[in-house]
Amino acid sequence: MLLVVLVLLLPSVSDACGDPPRFETMRLRGAPKPRYGPGERVQYDCRLGFKPIIPLRPRSAVCEDDNTWSALEEACTRKSCPNLGDPVNGQVYFVNGSVLFGSQAHFVCNQGFYLIGARILYCEISENNVNWNDDSPICEKILCSTPGNIKNGRFTVYKDEYQYNEIVIYMCDPSNGPDEYSLVGESTLICVDYDRWSSDPPECKVVKCDYPVVEHGMILSGFRRKFYYKAQVVFKCNQGFYLHGSSTIVCNANSVWEPKLPTCTKVPVAVPTEPSTTHASGPRPNTTTVPSSTGLHPATTATSSHTAYVSPTVDLEPEYFEDFGIILVINNLAL
Ligand SMILES: *[C@@H]1O[C@H](CO)[C@@H](O)[C@H](O)[C@H]1NC(C)=O
Ligand SMILES: *[C@@H]1O[C@H](CO)[C@@H](O)[C@H](O)[C@H]1NC(C)=O
Repeated sequence: MLLVVLVLLLPSVSDACGDPPRFETMRLRGAPKPRYGPGERVQYDCRLGFKPIIPLRPRSAVCEDDNTWSALEEACTRKSCPNLGDPVNGQVYFVNGSVLFGSQAHFVCNQGFYLIGARILYCEISENNVNWNDDSPICEKILCSTPGNIKNGRFTVYKDEYQYNEIVIYMCDPSNGPDEYSLVGESTLICVDYDRWSSDPPECKVVKCDYPVVEHGMILSGFRRKFYYKAQVVFKCNQGFYLHGSSTIVCNANSVWEPKLPTCTKVPVAVPTEPSTTHASGPRPNTTTVPSSTGLHPATTATSSHTAYVSPTVDLEPEYFEDFGIILVINNLAL
């Protein structure tokens, strides 16, 4: 029993100091020893990238009689990198608020200029001192070279070199065939960065969609002889027919109508299943998506005599209510 207690006490009664204290800014001079006895002294040096604080502070500690190290504070501080000025046509930002070892310098060029070199410099150890890891970058004027030529078209103004934000405008040539060229893409390109235009040049080509025919329907607007790029057509179903799909279609760059042509049928579009006697303006279930201007009700005009179609879901003009209010009341009473 006594033996066990003695063994447990052994480490604390050992006549030696523990490992010398560690510091952020200083390192032990020489190799650490396995044990330090009372009276032994350890010396510290500033770590790389650090220099002594002025006025000088003690940089050594002694193992005292009670086997603890004498008090010692950090005695070194970060070295500074040389100051950096703003580049011509740009700015430098010291994001850590200093040029001390470990800090960064970020460079930004003014609008219309682009950066050549390192965008970020680091204050690092260099030989026995600290320095920026690279030269400051420079800010060079943004210029664009001539944009690409296109088939069946041209652009103005033609130059060898363009300034930042300068534009060129493309247009299509008149065609020799029966159909004119359509310009597909952007007609205007802007010089936005070093040798970079805002987009690729457009294309000039014949884009022509087939004459759109919808059975039991008619073209409400957009009628013309030929349907070129971006031509838009709006359909309406004949009286008594319901429209399925989108009433508006557009001729796309591949000479295809988009979305596809609607159809007109005698069968109504799937109508919400809620009881038709309740509110017409309430939220509808998401079971069917009914594009705007498609027929929820047959293509009858408000003034037609088909009062049988009148139901609370029909959007009636105010005048219509005034004209037919009595009839509606009578109808409802009759039901
Ligand atoms: C300096 O600032 C950068 C960016 O905010 C950060 O990532 C980095 O850790 C900072 N360095 C020091 C030494 O504080
Ligand atoms: C119905 O559609 C709307 C809009 O598309 C959506 O915000 C809502 O969450 C949908 N409701 C259900 C029940 O799916």
